[in-house]
Amino acid sequence: MGLHVAPNTAEQSPIIEFRNVEKSFGPIKVLDQLCFSVKPGEHLALIGPSGSGKTTILRMLMTLESVTAGDVIVNGVSLNHEYKSGKELPASEAHLRKMRSDFGMVFQHFNLFPHKTAIQNVTLAPVLTGLLSKAEAKERGLKLLKKVGLADKAGEYPSRLSGGQKQRVAIARALALQPKILLLDEITSALDPELVEEVLNVITDLRNETDMTMLLVTHEMGFAKDFADRVLFFERGKIVEEGPPGEIFQAPHHERTKSFLRKVIAAGHRV
Ligand SMILES: Nc1ncnc2c1ncn2[C@@H]1O[C@H](COP(=O)(O)OP(=O)(O)OP(=O)(O)O)[C@@H](O)[C@H]1O
Ligand SMILES: [Mg+2]
Repeated sequence: MGLHVAPNTAEQSPIIEFRNVEKSFGPIKVLDQLCFSVKPGEHLALIGPSGSGKTTILRMLMTLESVTAGDVIVNGVSLNHEYKSGKELPASEAHLRKMRSDFGMVFQHFNLFPHKTAIQNVTLAPVLTGLLSKAEAKERGLKLLKKVGLADKAGEYPSRLSGGQKQRVAIARALALQPKILLLDEITSALDPELVEEVLNVITDLRNETDMTMLLVTHEMGFAKDFADRVLFFERGKIVEEGPPGEIFQAPHHERTKSFLRKVIAAGHRV
């Protein structure tokens, strides 16, 4: 008798789907027929050499880059197209703004507003978008600053904060709009080594205490191993290999993954 496998009704539909996504800057193709999907609540690490397209992927999700071909689907809705009276149209600014509201992003270089205090940086977006009143935004902002260990720095300007503190403000700012999906792009690579841990600890807490979907681009392979449910290794805009961190880091199948990991280790990053 053949083995009957019941359909897995628990299988969730993906929160993010890249369908044959291509991205070119002029003549240079940086994403090439890219397909992958992410489950709700999944913690994904994106690794790969410089120029492999990792930041472009996150920027696309933030609607900061458009696709050249293919489609990105978020919660079943196309990021790049709108359908009106059965017609496919390019996404309007209003559509992009709505789609963007699911995402929060933290950048390598913090990108804080230098002339605003920590709390002003955190409250700006929720007030400007009309999501919260000033008082509500401040209450939420102070809670978030407390969560990242900066309750006492609310009134400080970025110039008076350490790199690790600035990055924690940037994380609080990304959380202020209560995103479903958090995008983290090499958030520790501009930090002095002794400040890396305080930032990674905040990310570990978010990973363990929230149901946010998280996409992390990193060269911190040791952290990626602890953080990720799944690791994607990119090269030249394609996924070379993907799998659970135990497999990718301990027993990669592809020579290219092996040689990348060797180089990263040689550069002093622990695996
Ligand atoms: N706005 C742009 N105009 C032209 N080329 C770009 C632009 N943005 C990215 N690129 C190119 O696209 C490719 C992929 O860049 P991307 O920043 O996504 O790589 P990455 O994997 O994040 O690299 P790194 O590890 O150095 O951050 C690179 O060759 C880059 O030079
Ligand atoms: Mg990058």
